[in-house]
Amino acid sequence: MNIIYMDNAATSWPKPETVYQAVDQFNRKMGANPGRGSNHKTLEAGGVLLETREALAELFNINDSSCLVFTANVTESLNIGLKGWLNPGDHVIISGMEHNAVARPISSLQQSGVEVSVVPCDERGRLDPHDVELAFRDNTTMVCMLHASNITGTIMPIAEIGKIAHQNEAVFMVDAAQTAGVLPLNVKAQNIDLLAFTGHKGLMGPQGTGGLYIRPGLKIRPLIEGGTGSLSEHAYQPEFMPDRFESGTPNTPGIAGLGAGVRFIMETGIEQIRRHEQELTDRLISGLQEIRGISLYGPGDSRQQTAVISFNIEDMDCGELSFLLDRKYGIITRSGLHCAPLAHRTLGTLRQGACRFSPGFFNTREDIDTVIKAVHEIVDGRR
Ligand code: ALA
Repeated sequence: MNIIYMDNAATSWPKPETVYQAVDQFNRKMGANPGRGSNHKTLEAGGVLLETREALAELFNINDSSCLVFTANVTESLNIGLKGWLNPGDHVIISGMEHNAVARPISSLQQSGVEVSVVPCDERGRLDPHDVELAFRDNTTMVCMLHASNITGTIMPIAEIGKIAHQNEAVFMVDAAQTAGVLPLNVKAQNIDLLAFTGHKGLMGPQGTGGLYIRPGLKIRPLIEGGTGSLSEHAYQPEFMPDRFESGTPNTPGIAGLGAGVRFIMETGIEQIRRHEQELTDRLISGLQEIRGISLYGPGDSRQQTAVISFNIEDMDCGELSFLLDRKYGIITRSGLHCAPLAHRTLGTLRQGACRFSPGFFNTREDIDTVIKAVHEIVDGRR
């Protein structure tokens, strides 16, 4: 049975061939620890980091690539931004669609005296920027929000929210877990001070890669300190970028693969990737909408969302549905709460959860038609 992979919101698969090659080549031919000493292999490995950093900086319109630090994933990036900026007594604004990558560190910060406002979203996950404006207090120092939901794909008006944050002298952090590589991101035009992203989803890199852009001049505390290969004679962490945030041996093979993923995206063009994913999204939505007994969540319009579509069949257990799609039809989905109970509460699906399709750039129209047919069959089988 052929597999139809519909779980790109969890991790993209397959990767471009060049990504596999870059990881393999690094492991076989380079393999050195970057920035440690001056032998030619460490310098070559350092070059891999630099090339990927510069490619990402170009993709996100960042002038100085040293302001972009590598992390293991977007969760780590968000933790650095939240815990490195917020202090007891500060107030932070988040949305009602956040993933636990934001909600959990925020909850722990709340225990240490950070005040939190959750701006409600509507039942399709949409946010009204005016509601963000109303949430500001005298002690608001940060607005932190995802760019698109991992359950409904709902796209947030981040440029507008960033503008509101700046008018109120707050820092704006964006969780781009679901959008880096699939929607245009421009830190200047979208008023972003902190951009947290992962490498293994839309950017098509390997798991274990991610990063955080920190606007020059922003004083963020690092989460971890240690060896950087620089200023080793000092007991304190270097102040300069990116070393301030990059301690310990990085995931250089992964970052080599990430570089290849970013180059693939730039060569293909974000517009083309987006166009293709929009076409698949609209096809899937209209096919599912025609099936009786289906509840679809989210905007229901590819212009307002990424290629993420969650649904339920009446009161059927979403885990059972996902299992059936996999075992009987070879269709890979994710079910449950998707690590985002806050968002499920907003959507009214906290009790049931949902089954999620997330097609990617390598899916075809035929894949979508097969998926629709499978759901049809499952629904018919219940009558
Ligand atoms: N956050 C990822 C997802 O939504 C893993 O599946």
